[in-house]
Amino acid sequence: MLTVPVEHATARAAIALANRAPSVHNTQPWQWRLGDSSIHLFADSSRALPATDPDGRDLRISCGAALHHLRVALLAAGWSSRVHRLPDPARPGHLAAIELYPGEPTVEQLMLAAAIDNRRSDRRVMSTWPLPHQLLEELERAAEVEGAALRILTGEADRLHVAALVRHATVEQSLTPGLAEETAAWSGRGRGSRDGVPAVNVPRGPDGAIPVREFDVREQQQETLGRDETDGTVLALLATVDSSPLEELAAGEALSAVLLAATRWGVASDPISQPLEVASTRADLRRSLLADWGEPQLLLRLGWASISAQPVPRTGRRPVDDTIAPLAASWETVAGE
Ligand SMILES: Cc1cc2nc3c(=O)[nH]c(=O)nc-3n(C[C@H](O)[C@H](O)[C@H](O)COP(=O)(O)O)c2cc1C
Repeated sequence: MLTVPVEHATARAAIALANRAPSVHNTQPWQWRLGDSSIHLFADSSRALPATDPDGRDLRISCGAALHHLRVALLAAGWSSRVHRLPDPARPGHLAAIELYPGEPTVEQLMLAAAIDNRRSDRRVMSTWPLPHQLLEELERAAEVEGAALRILTGEADRLHVAALVRHATVEQSLTPGLAEETAAWSGRGRGSRDGVPAVNVPRGPDGAIPVREFDVREQQQETLGRDETDGTVLALLATVDSSPLEELAAGEALSAVLLAATRWGVASDPISQPLEVASTRADLRRSLLADWGEPQLLLRLGWASISAQPVPRTGRRPVDDTIAPLAASWETVAGE
């Protein structure tokens, strides 16, 4: 395959869009390095959450989401990518080498790129207006294309069970040394913050069907809408065949594919990772919802926003140039291996 040098300005613009990807606590734990005809994704361990995410799973899922966002953004700019995931066993932080060659986006792919800037994590109660099954099937397919499975949890018993596991994980995490400090450091931010979770993005008031993560909310919280409404949240579990850094990266790519497809249809979404961060609740999810078939990676809330809902504020991102470094010459061969 012929790879062609890509203009720095194009790569930079695609990376700016990729950086809009969701990430745990909005840590944006990635770094991009630019070669002549390749872009490389590295995990940024200085932005890890050792108390919340000691094994770095959420970090790799977040990086996978950024990788898929980048692929979508590049394609919209006329660049197809060939991705070498975890190309160097000696450098586990080198998550992907992306080779570029000219490509033609479909209208569908352009619409996914347009969805990047409209996606938000919406933690509010969802409307009870049902999500059509064709739409849910499209989301399942979007995950499948990226090598993951999206299981829609339709039964009330599953929903109650997940809510109980979220509560259990919250209690377990409250006993984890350093976790409260870590959450406080990465949340309760003001509107202009370049990373972390702004208080304005955390709803005030009683929870819906699934408890909202206990972020710090020193500043003004988001107006709670639909407080008295029944929560029509559809729950889904994203899973992969097994657990490995490669599968976690794939889970992140699938997460992005599902969220962008949902956003394109105007469906609100919100990832939930707490029960995946605690070993006992993670094992319970594997057993109870997957019948030990594979590895649970992330829960998702999906639904239509309440009809009276205001738009969810856009969360901040680091300046794009802070996320980009040049690629040392000796690395350029990596993409061609
Ligand atoms: C791996 C991962 C785990 C997440 N876990 C949670 C969670 O448990 N609860 C929650 O409310 N949001 C969760 N989020 C959403 C992030 O907090 C959100 O993406 C980030 O604050 C940026 O905001 P945005 O999605 O609106 O751009 C998670 C996101 C990712 C990628």
